[in-house]
Amino acid sequence: MKFFVDTADVDAIRDLADTGLVDGVTTNPSLIAKSGRDFVEVVQEICDIVDGPISAEVTATEFDAMLEEGRKLAKIHKNITVKVPLTRDGLKTCKALSGDGTMVNVTLCFSANQALLAAKAGATFISPFVGRLDDIGTEGMQLIDDIVQIYANYPDLKTEVLVASVRSPMHVLEAAKIGAGVATLPPDVLHAMFKHPLTDKGLDAFLADWQKTGQSIL
Ligand code: G3P
Repeated sequence: MKFFVDTADVDAIRDLADTGLVDGVTTNPSLIAKSGRDFVEVVQEICDIVDGPISAEVTATEFDAMLEEGRKLAKIHKNITVKVPLTRDGLKTCKALSGDGTMVNVTLCFSANQALLAAKAGATFISPFVGRLDDIGTEGMQLIDDIVQIYANYPDLKTEVLVASVRSPMHVLEAAKIGAGVATLPPDVLHAMFKHPLTDKGLDAFLADWQKTGQSIL
């Protein structure tokens, strides 16, 4: 399973990339606004830190302008994955950009039929938002299960399921059990996955016993 980081905070990305466990990064207009920084500048910096797909989202809503924005974003770096919303114009843009050989992440997916359309439009990634579905009392993970199952029925569809709107390590666990290819994680969720109280307790005991031996490895 690949892990992307879902943030435009360059320091947080650098810190996590240092672990060697980060396969890509996703941003969206809200995350760029939160960073308070220039969009293109931030995305360029992220491309220098992580060698993997870096999602940068268009903000136009009509095909011609979306395509122009997407092509401009794609020129920033070979790893740019243009993010488009799951609308008719978004999918038309997806088809055109994937025809150019550009990676495309179709975002704001809330149904399996939408995911099917995105795959037919040549999306590299489909981003179903599990947390936002949970927020309205619908089981977000059921959507992941449905999409993974549907894509598996049609091996010619090459779109990867990118679990988005992840809110907790439980979302990651459930997505991994289903077999989703990618999850994009807010930094806090990835940090939390390292932690277990028994690991801390066990390590403290090992180190205390080791100290009693008076030995050192180096
Ligand atoms: O990048 C899209 C996404 O992961 C949004 O998450 O928490 O704003 O629903 P959230």
